[in-house]
Amino acid sequence: MNNVGFIGWRGMVGSVLMERMIAEGDFSHLNAHFFTTSQAGQPGPTYGGDAKPLNNAFDIPSLQKMDIIVSCQGGDYTREVYQPLRDSGWEGYWIDAASALRMSADSIIVLDPVNNDVIQQGLEQGVKTFVGGNCTVSLMLLALGGLFEKDLIEWVSPMTYQAASGAGARNMRELISQMGEIHASVKSQLENPSSAILEIDKLVADKLKSDSLPKDQFGVPLAGSLIPWIDVPLESGQSKEEWKAEVEANKILGSIKQPIPVDGLCVRVGAMRCHSQALTIKLRENIDVNEIEKILDEHNEWVKVIPNERDVTEKELSPVNVTGSLHIPIGRIRKLSMGEKYISAFTVGDQLLWGAAEPLRRMLRIITG
Ligand code: HSE
Repeated sequence: MNNVGFIGWRGMVGSVLMERMIAEGDFSHLNAHFFTTSQAGQPGPTYGGDAKPLNNAFDIPSLQKMDIIVSCQGGDYTREVYQPLRDSGWEGYWIDAASALRMSADSIIVLDPVNNDVIQQGLEQGVKTFVGGNCTVSLMLLALGGLFEKDLIEWVSPMTYQAASGAGARNMRELISQMGEIHASVKSQLENPSSAILEIDKLVADKLKSDSLPKDQFGVPLAGSLIPWIDVPLESGQSKEEWKAEVEANKILGSIKQPIPVDGLCVRVGAMRCHSQALTIKLRENIDVNEIEKILDEHNEWVKVIPNERDVTEKELSPVNVTGSLHIPIGRIRKLSMGEKYISAFTVGDQLLWGAAEPLRRMLRIITG
């Protein structure tokens, strides 16, 4: 069995990966070794067998003993360790959640329900570096997989509604703290049914704008508001999150030579761990909505088309309904008034599951069998 080293297994994405691996019995297919950046020698976890002492994640000789390394530790770790490890002659598989190696010529972005052909071809050609995609990109491709597979999309503009989890665990805590402080600022007024709503609104606005609202992580209020910028600015006027959509989607699809335009605005909203996206799509052909729904629904076992009806949309097409699950609902599919080739759609997916841990878990299983 392969010796597999896990780094960053205690963090948010790493913990979700561990949960999924336990649920799927993955540890019985490998010999697990756990690494740490700060607590080498301390007892490791019991996933996959008896607890062994934690290995030092910066120790190249220890890493060299692994057939496969799975890192959820983040980009700084990858940038520090990956190249020295490769330079030492190590030829194992490196599977990474961080974006650092995503656009390298010798890496493949993994999302096997969409690009298993690209992955298999890469394995045959000796590719050894496999990286999870940006969460919004992976979730969009799973939702629209059928239309991409049949090359029916001329371009797509995703306008995102991204959850706090994408920014990190501390950001999730801050969002909840902001919510709590806002409620506390008007608790007595809310308990009095005859209190004036404009007075409540003013108190809430005062709290949102006050220095006492916790905002060390986001820098601004997210609860009761939104942030139409994610990640650093680029020369193009895009945020880096927006730039990733087109380059990563086309790398995953294997269409870099004739890229499909994918561009829109990325917005942080006060959801916990599910990213939502409103999609404007230009099709290459005029296709009936029924046919579009059929193509989407049949593509993979996780996507589910939600009829364009109010009740079912409100119940099923929401972050609250999707959180903690692998389901990828897509709905609000209708023709737009711009023309018969223009359609709208709305999709939701768990940013920590299909958006982060699940593609890595599945890649590991592709290698370990
Ligand atoms: N960059 C994403 C976000 C999460 O900020 O929501 C990671 O893919």
